[in-house]
Amino acid sequence: MQKITIAIDGFSSTGKSTIAKQLAKHLGYIYVDTGAMYRAVTYYAMKYDFINATHFDVVGLVSKLHDIVVYFKLNQETGSADVYLNGENIEQAIRTLEVSNFVSQVAAIPEVRYQLVKQQQKMGAKKGIVMDGRDIGTVVFPEAELKIFMTASAETRATRRFNELINKGEVVTYTDVLHNIEERDFLDSNREDSPLRKAADAIEIDNSNLTIAQQFQEIVKLAEAEI
Ligand code: C5P
Repeated sequence: MQKITIAIDGFSSTGKSTIAKQLAKHLGYIYVDTGAMYRAVTYYAMKYDFINATHFDVVGLVSKLHDIVVYFKLNQETGSADVYLNGENIEQAIRTLEVSNFVSQVAAIPEVRYQLVKQQQKMGAKKGIVMDGRDIGTVVFPEAELKIFMTASAETRATRRFNELINKGEVVTYTDVLHNIEERDFLDSNREDSPLRKAADAIEIDNSNLTIAQQFQEIVKLAEAEI
């Protein structure tokens, strides 16, 4: 059976990674969460104080890009890949609201995007991949056989993300989570380099009123039609 490339893009917290993971498992494909890669660089920028609430040293961060090694490694316990930064497992550390609050600024830097996109294209060079992000169907794999663009209302997304963070024990308010989602949507859609856009040939799925199972059925049908 021929292997294809599946690009899943969309706004923040639309459940892209949930469906991408399920689909990859179903098809026996590799799954790559590109948001984790931008979060990893942001984690580095925060750790070494290139970015904080009052300053952002873009030149300093860019000068260190060659020192930033981001990669994925299978976690035997969970069965999914964890993200690593220079040998440190940062899978949990990158999912906080604090990282979410800085990531869109870091992801807007062209040099950061250039480096990560190159790495993503290598990962998908042999196809058989489901990759989720913001620019997969437009920039990373414009030739992907299947492109999905996920949407849902901001309130639906904030409720999902709020519950996720609370269940992990993070102390956050619904209002802060909603604000972060709206701000990231704005920054991601309005940056100059690779703004979040629906590719002309992407299929839009609004999952505000779909269960995870319904959404999975719909997307598997689309994927199987391409294989
Ligand atoms: O997917 P996730 O919400 O974890 O992505 C975090 C952030 O990383 C996004 O808000 C966006 O700023 C950036 N991102 C990006 N391009 C991608 C994936 C993520 O700019 N392909």
